[in-house]
Amino acid sequence: MTTPALGTSVPSADDDRATWWRSAVTYQLYIRSFADGDGDGLGDVAGIRSRLPYLASLGVDAIWINPWYPSPQADGGYDVSDYRTLDPVFGDLAAGQALIDDAHRLGLRVILDVVPNHTSDEHPWFQAALAGGPDAPERSRYIFRPGRGTDGSLPPNDWRSVFGGSAWQRVTEPDGTPGEWYLHLFDVKQPDLDWSSPEVRAEFRDVLRFWFDRGADGFRIDVAHGLVKDPALPDLGLDTEVILSQPDRADHPHWDRPGVHEIWREWRAVADEYDPPRTFVAEAWVASSDRLADYLRPDELHSAFDFELVRAPWHARELRRTISTSLAAHDTVGAPVTWVLSNHDITRHVTRYGRAIRAGEPPLHHEEVSGAPGDDPLHGGGGPVDVALGTRRARAALLMELALPGAVYLFQGEELGLPEVEDLPEDVLQDPVWERSGHTQRGRDGCRVPIPWTRSGPSLGFGSGPGWLPQPPDWSELSAEAQEADRSSMLWLYREALQLRRELPMLGDSTAPMRWVDSGNDVVAFTRGDSFTCIVNAGPSPVALPRGHVVLASGPVDGELPPDTAAWVLTSG
Ligand code: GLC
Repeated sequence: MTTPALGTSVPSADDDRATWWRSAVTYQLYIRSFADGDGDGLGDVAGIRSRLPYLASLGVDAIWINPWYPSPQADGGYDVSDYRTLDPVFGDLAAGQALIDDAHRLGLRVILDVVPNHTSDEHPWFQAALAGGPDAPERSRYIFRPGRGTDGSLPPNDWRSVFGGSAWQRVTEPDGTPGEWYLHLFDVKQPDLDWSSPEVRAEFRDVLRFWFDRGADGFRIDVAHGLVKDPALPDLGLDTEVILSQPDRADHPHWDRPGVHEIWREWRAVADEYDPPRTFVAEAWVASSDRLADYLRPDELHSAFDFELVRAPWHARELRRTISTSLAAHDTVGAPVTWVLSNHDITRHVTRYGRAIRAGEPPLHHEEVSGAPGDDPLHGGGGPVDVALGTRRARAALLMELALPGAVYLFQGEELGLPEVEDLPEDVLQDPVWERSGHTQRGRDGCRVPIPWTRSGPSLGFGSGPGWLPQPPDWSELSAEAQEADRSSMLWLYREALQLRRELPMLGDSTAPMRWVDSGNDVVAFTRGDSFTCIVNAGPSPVALPRGHVVLASGPVDGELPPDTAAWVLTSG
């Protein structure tokens, strides 16, 4: 049985220079943890440059570099104090330029990360706002308000920081008296900007041009759903602490407000000033795929991470439902889906899938998926992890993801099958979530552990000394060096899959329609065009393979497709 084609309403244009992002596979570089060129324990531009050939040979089309700007590093660089150069711990502007140029020479596009919702409290704008006192015009760039209560000692409303605690901080005025409060939806060192300020808007248009002029091919937009707040600042009425939570309702006073779309239209116009046009990918945690599609209307952003697959458990019916919903929502605006399984904010998917329900078992309630009531599978989850099982599923998930219509983002280390490191010693944790949650949540450091490049060495080839977070000793065998020597490794699966995805014309955002194939409850199967089938067995028993030639499989196949395995099958016509 087949269903109508999905994900194909807009044929790819011929001009790859302008539309490359519709099909691209982009590799996310969490710069602190990728490669350390100078031995200080933090990754840097020199490290990335030395590893660019690895990325080119992996077969990705582009790289996305997490914020590299000067920053007190209170939130891994998402607290920016100067948007127009690099932090000296990562390199200087010339080094950044050299990296962009090197990448281009190797055929890799470069996406930078822009953080418009907030600056660092050490940004000159915020320093001026503090120094100028309550009447300073500089305060209008941020969200300063008097406190509640007779002496103003209560925060202006009950909003919570995503990292825990109140979203408001009271300042001491220049005359030494307790003064106004400022909003920080994230850390106290990340004051929110006020996007009703024309100055704020003009500044960021200029920042975009600064980097576009230097050859950046696009930007990942941090917290693209957060910039506009309800000016009435109404209470949320939350009665429990929800850390790292995402919006779950459509009329939220500070997430996904209709006013953000006007900003994205302005930004689109800036990207379109360039030849070829520059591109955007939004990080927008919104309540539904339909809300996400609003960001992707033709005069707004080009793409946005689709986090629905991230939220879905390893369960065939849920995977099919999630994929269909995302494709249908994106189709309404002619945008490709941007698939993602892991990033620097969420539990790595080897671990998620190793903890998730076994397919074929009935439960689908959130608490049963994550293993413990109330636990959030994206941030720690709970319950034991079967890494071997998670790894098999991650291999299968890759083939599924790369066969779907649209674009894909990979997170560094997933090509090595790295699991989440859930037992980091408490004294090394750096995510502000750890402190702000009163040590109840460990935060996101477990997916940010430095990459193991070699079997041995002080940080397994990450740098010449120890890395900023320790690697588990058994990562020696997960190192790129170890996997290079093993043709059945995760690394080789990624290489082969990425190469085939380039060679097979029906994959990516091609015009080849995608159609579901009904292969039973435990199976996710679809065709692209007339001759390609992707089949994923998420169930407990082997299933039959479609007729044809298996060009790639995520594990051994012998006539049948074993559990937690996927295959790409070609028929000759
Ligand atoms: C985004 C980033 C995350 C950061 C937050 C605040 O969600 O991905 O790492 O902590 O924004 O900037």
